[in-house]
Amino acid sequence: MSAVLKEAPRLEPMREDDLDEVLAIENAIYTHPWTRGNFSDSLRAGYDCRTWRLSGEIIGYFILIAAAGEAHLLNLSIAARHQRSGHGSALLREALDLSRRRGARSVFLEVRPSNVAAQALYGRFGFRRIAVRRGYYPAHFGREDALVYTLPLA
Ligand SMILES: CC(C)(COP(=O)(O)OP(=O)(O)OC[C@H]1O[C@@H](n2cnc3c(N)ncnc32)[C@H](O)[C@@H]1OP(=O)(O)O)[C@@H](O)C(=O)NCCC(=O)NCCS
Repeated sequence: MSAVLKEAPRLEPMREDDLDEVLAIENAIYTHPWTRGNFSDSLRAGYDCRTWRLSGEIIGYFILIAAAGEAHLLNLSIAARHQRSGHGSALLREALDLSRRRGARSVFLEVRPSNVAAQALYGRFGFRRIAVRRGYYPAHFGREDALVYTLPLA
């Protein structure tokens, strides 16, 4: 019997040409998605923008800022049909590794209180909730708070 080898996803730099694919994912999974301008600005600003590619197809991405010993994870996303298969965990691990390589001693991120999936993921990695930013996010009715999480990096 021959073994079936599953192709591993690859981390690659995000390019302007990737933005159609990235936005298709972004628009499908967020109630208030980032715009093309948000991604273009991040690329232009030199933030660490990475895609997670499986068999040539983008199935996830992250945007990270690392400076002055701190990293901020601005966006971490997995396409809806690839969620719950370990990709979010694998991509978060890559973002943490990159943060360490950039000299960050801790990582910060914000998450909506309604985003149970992301909070569960970050909790499993040892992130701690340290603050609440009142009315940080736009919501369907008014605004939604942001929970601020942090993780010290070994
Ligand atoms: C959050 C997100 C990145 C997780 O990606 P994922 O590929 O599904 O994550 P994993 O498969 O690695 O899941 C790891 C763990 O996270 C938790 N988790 C993931 N999805 C969950 C869900 N829908 N409900 C509850 N817990 C969930 C579980 O503990 C899960 O482990 P398990 O599958 O063994 O139970 C993904 O759901 C996503 O892209 N969501 C939309 C965008 C988003 O909210 N990004 C974060 C913004 S701060």
